[in-house]
Amino acid sequence: MVAAIVVAMAVQARERVSFDKGWKFALADKPEMANADFNDSRWRTLDVPHDWAIEGDFYVGNPSGAGGGALPGGIGWYRKEMVLPQNGNIREKYFLEFDGVYMNATVYVNGQNVGYRPYGYSSFEYDITAYLKAGRNVVAVRVDNSDQPNSRWYSGCGIYRHVWLTKTNPIHVKHWGVRVISSPPKVGGGRGGMNKGKIFVEVQIENPSKAKVAIRNTIISKEGEIVADQTSPNPSYSGGEFGLTVKRARLWSCDDPYIYKVRTEVIENGKVVDTYETTTGFREFKFDAKTGFWLNGKNFKLNGVCEHHDFGCLGAALNEDALHRKLTKLKAMGVNSIRSSHNPPAPELLNMCDTMGLIVMDESFDMWRRKKTQNDYARFFVEWHERDLSDLILRDRNHPSVLMWSIGNEVLEQWSSAEADTLTLEQANLILNAGHDASTLAKDGELSVQSLLTQHLAEIVKRYDTSRPITAGCNEPSPGNHLFKSGAIDIIGFNYHHEWVKDVPKNFPGKPFIFSESVSALQTRGNYMMPSDSVFKAPKEWWLPYTDPSYMCSSYDNMHASWSSTHEETWDVVKHNDFVGGQYIWTGFDYIGEPTPYGFPARSSYFGIIDLAGFPKDTYYMYQSEWTQKSMLHLFPHWNWVPGDEIDMWCYYSGADEVELFINGESQGVRRKAEYTGEGWKPGLCTEYHVGWRVTFDPGEVKAVSRKNGKVVCEQTIKTAGAPECIRMSVDYKGKETTFINVEVVDKDGNLCPWAEDMIYFDYEGEGGILGTDNGCQTSMERFTAPKRKAFFGKCLVVAKGKGSITARSATLKPTWIEIE
Ligand code: GAL
Repeated sequence: MVAAIVVAMAVQARERVSFDKGWKFALADKPEMANADFNDSRWRTLDVPHDWAIEGDFYVGNPSGAGGGALPGGIGWYRKEMVLPQNGNIREKYFLEFDGVYMNATVYVNGQNVGYRPYGYSSFEYDITAYLKAGRNVVAVRVDNSDQPNSRWYSGCGIYRHVWLTKTNPIHVKHWGVRVISSPPKVGGGRGGMNKGKIFVEVQIENPSKAKVAIRNTIISKEGEIVADQTSPNPSYSGGEFGLTVKRARLWSCDDPYIYKVRTEVIENGKVVDTYETTTGFREFKFDAKTGFWLNGKNFKLNGVCEHHDFGCLGAALNEDALHRKLTKLKAMGVNSIRSSHNPPAPELLNMCDTMGLIVMDESFDMWRRKKTQNDYARFFVEWHERDLSDLILRDRNHPSVLMWSIGNEVLEQWSSAEADTLTLEQANLILNAGHDASTLAKDGELSVQSLLTQHLAEIVKRYDTSRPITAGCNEPSPGNHLFKSGAIDIIGFNYHHEWVKDVPKNFPGKPFIFSESVSALQTRGNYMMPSDSVFKAPKEWWLPYTDPSYMCSSYDNMHASWSSTHEETWDVVKHNDFVGGQYIWTGFDYIGEPTPYGFPARSSYFGIIDLAGFPKDTYYMYQSEWTQKSMLHLFPHWNWVPGDEIDMWCYYSGADEVELFINGESQGVRRKAEYTGEGWKPGLCTEYHVGWRVTFDPGEVKAVSRKNGKVVCEQTIKTAGAPECIRMSVDYKGKETTFINVEVVDKDGNLCPWAEDMIYFDYEGEGGILGTDNGCQTSMERFTAPKRKAFFGKCLVVAKGKGSITARSATLKPTWIEIE
């Protein structure tokens, strides 16, 4: 009995336990695999979250295509035993909850079909009580991701999020049955009502015997203190609505993400029979057509990034440490908002955003009825959209971090007709970003089927939550866009089209505006395309092919796709237009799949500000200089070129008025960032956002010094590295169970060798193991789970679990090791 969970919990109160450990898994498919007596003894034992695709090889023939990461799909089965006490009847209720299974998940208990869920990003729960018996029970899950392509990015395969087993009394709070709305004290306060926050709690309970129960709500501060509580005066059997007051309510904000807990108890005959906890926070926000975004009376830009759900070499399998590392790096860059593009996120993302002070745009779909890839969610939309969208709102509406809902991304229903059905994945991606002619837009006074569908989706959202606005990622910026024409979009959201922004107040009078998606610059960490003041468009037009034998893009902010812009160009529009509430840059981290502008062997994106391994590209520091208060300086590129080469040195800085560059002690001049002129952004060696020098390479060292009022603020020196000599390892991020280790090739003096490409082999000794390796290179063909990786521009990453030591070796470099405590 390997994969068994013995359930012997007390009858009365709710117990929610992890159901992650000890599943049996096979990449095979037979109907008998559902049966309790099926012999799975030779199957692999593993814990979920699990992603079987990440363990595979990149292969041009995999039907996911380069767009899907060129990794395998298929059908897999998971099985797990669950043992109930031998004697007695089952008096409690048992629920199995899946945070996410990609995709087409059919759940069986003891061979009986309990339910099916096609959408790979929805969370769902089944009441399995009726299928259980005393003693041994078997849960089996069939996951079918064989119809490919079904995604424009890497989805992963399997039970890739957590699974929970909940046991309750027959009288219990319904699944997602508590709704909390916290109204903050009035900004600025008012006599008497000063600092008082109001909490509205709606409770729905399941109560088959219609027993009379009381409901108690307790509000608990972050420090664990009870700050309000109330027991319903009149017993009821279905739940009710309650109002509580919190004195001296503390606000939730990005800088001080203060949260409260609402504990809801169901009491029968003086005994607590169920307890349910919800997180909440007090905040007041608005989107204004003239002034943009406001939180708690403060006006600031949403400095957001779009994120897909994968964790690079760890794949789609949810890993809280990897997620926390991601959000920590983004926050340090100055990011204050995340868009869960283009689907419901893992619940843990929202929990972390609640406690880290990150605002969330919670998104539902990448397509409605019209498909973007052959087998995508469009085939389920008609039957499932209502359920999937309702569940998203019900699951997420209590999170203080969620401030808006997106009902779709670049759905083809923006136009009267869009012929994506006949296209390949790559063509579809491109056409989505190309303009459509006026004949496909809504006519004056027309309320098309597409507009009606938009209204219908907005109504579903408003049915469950009227406290947040609705937006959608639209790459058709004209008011004739059928989504805009519906009148149901509260915040006009453009994807790209920064040159249309000046007309927004005229085209959408009285409507707030954000960039729901922006930039899509193309960058490879460590590769510099010169001259840096020329902008490279790849491809030149969306319908043209683009190829370059290097399969690389540029680390200067001087390369983007035909529909997009440099980082500086869009930020300039956001920064200098008060009515623009903010932007969601495509993307924070690189992700697997969609390797625009290339095809295979490229298999991961170039769009990230941070590469797939988690190493910041240079533009990270441009945002840090604009979005954070800290005084900083970042000089690049490296200083290893051919003597006599003409090199563009760029510097991002803040907290200073000027920067001086020195090569081997000799000044190359003082530069200041350009003043804002209102004439629009233009590429250049010096702009409003960076300074630069065109210099001749001379081995030795290059140094930048920033000054404010003549006093030195920051400085950075880069030395010409000698021959690669050793490997250096250092901890990049240490999580609760997972450690991310930087691996660098350095010369005898410890300088990073920026051209090093040595293959590095890792050995692990200890209690855990190596989970993955990466280097941020979009064409690296080693398996992500392989314990070896080539250095890419001098660096790679190894990710390990548990305590132990890792040794790094290569053919010619001095080996090294690191201890993980
Ligand atoms: C957008 C789309 C994203 C991604 C991006 C690449 O149009 O919403 O999912 O494909 O383009 O530039």
